[in-house]
Amino acid sequence: MKESDSQIFEKDAKDYLPVFNRYKIVLDHGEGAYLWDNNGKKYLDFLGGIAVNVLGHAYPPLVKAIADQAAKLIHTSNLYYTQPQADAAAKLVALSGLDKAFFGNSGAEANEGAIKIARKYAHKIDPEKSQIISAWHSFHGRTLATLTATGQPKYQEGVGPLPAGFDYVHFNDYEELEKLVTDKTAAVLLEPIQGEGGVHTPKDDYLKKVRALCDKHKALLIFDEIQCGIGRTGSFFAYEKYGVKPDIVTLAKGLAGGVPIGAFVVTDEVAKAFKPGDHGTTFGGNPLACAAANVVLDTVPKKEFLDNVAKVGSHFKEKLQSLQKKYPSYIKEVRGEGLILGMEINDNDHGRDIVNKAMEEGFIINCTAGNVLRFIPPLIVTEKEVDLLAECLGTILGEFATK
Ligand SMILES: Cc1ncc(COP(=O)(O)O)c(C=O)c1O
Repeated sequence: MKESDSQIFEKDAKDYLPVFNRYKIVLDHGEGAYLWDNNGKKYLDFLGGIAVNVLGHAYPPLVKAIADQAAKLIHTSNLYYTQPQADAAAKLVALSGLDKAFFGNSGAEANEGAIKIARKYAHKIDPEKSQIISAWHSFHGRTLATLTATGQPKYQEGVGPLPAGFDYVHFNDYEELEKLVTDKTAAVLLEPIQGEGGVHTPKDDYLKKVRALCDKHKALLIFDEIQCGIGRTGSFFAYEKYGVKPDIVTLAKGLAGGVPIGAFVVTDEVAKAFKPGDHGTTFGGNPLACAAANVVLDTVPKKEFLDNVAKVGSHFKEKLQSLQKKYPSYIKEVRGEGLILGMEINDNDHGRDIVNKAMEEGFIINCTAGNVLRFIPPLIVTEKEVDLLAECLGTILGEFATK
């Protein structure tokens, strides 16, 4: 029997570990870029399950692939081969220009695996070559190693001792990185575009210089494309945009359109660091998740699909920039590429209120890093849908700007 919102809130308060600051709606179903709550209210979704639902909600080919695979074989141990997994790995290798893919279940697991293989690779060069450098304001996950790599102390408080050997630099500050990297550095781990930290894009040649610095010190370059990859910038991998190839790329979120999955993809050279038995997973890359991933990997990399992301994304950015022109003292900056966009507001107190107001008006948006409205919608969102949000946002921001 379908329960009311208040019954569900009550159950949740009693039984669910309260680690999320949730918004007070119960979501029921979706279609395309739209979601409906328990009471039939419709929302235009500009969060996409935090950059996950890349093909929108209930995309028929994805639903069919999942249903067909579930009816055949949901899971088998990784002790055996399955075609969906072999296909998904082959597609990721072809798209990335790297050589070997491994599947886990989440972004944190993908980064955990990437850090582990990087350390193992470096250890063979020099047992003391273990330093991992990441960026302040990054986000890499919630396992102990990945929350340590995450350059935000609030996620690390009270859970120490943390794994050793992690250091941090400011994103886009090449000189600071140059001072820190030595022959003892195993890897530099960066999001090409920082998502959770407030949608920060790299300066023109920053990533190229980081690549050269890593090469000089035989340190691996790991790109975390868990949020900015899978077509979000208008290229399948964000790194293609910046003309820099990493040694390892990590993916998750949108990779299977909403079915849990994570992946790290490495060069042959790095792959040699792991021998059978060095890593593993029970669920990772099971046939159900990989059948879903195969739909994403057959759809998103198509030129028309990516061109459309770039086109809708630049239309969206122009709309946000015109709001900035309208409220120049309230809106500090508009940033991002394709459909990972951020609008930084000069207001640290009302981000959540703006999100709540948008929700009342039927739009799901998000505020990250305290004062950055972040837009990471399904990649199938249209310019018309963007216009609807821009109009609503204009009214809401107008109210807050004059408060
Ligand atoms: C860039 C990045 N890396 C890693 C993660 C962690 O992914 P997960 O929550 O699937 O473990 C996230 C999640 O937001 C992310 O944005």
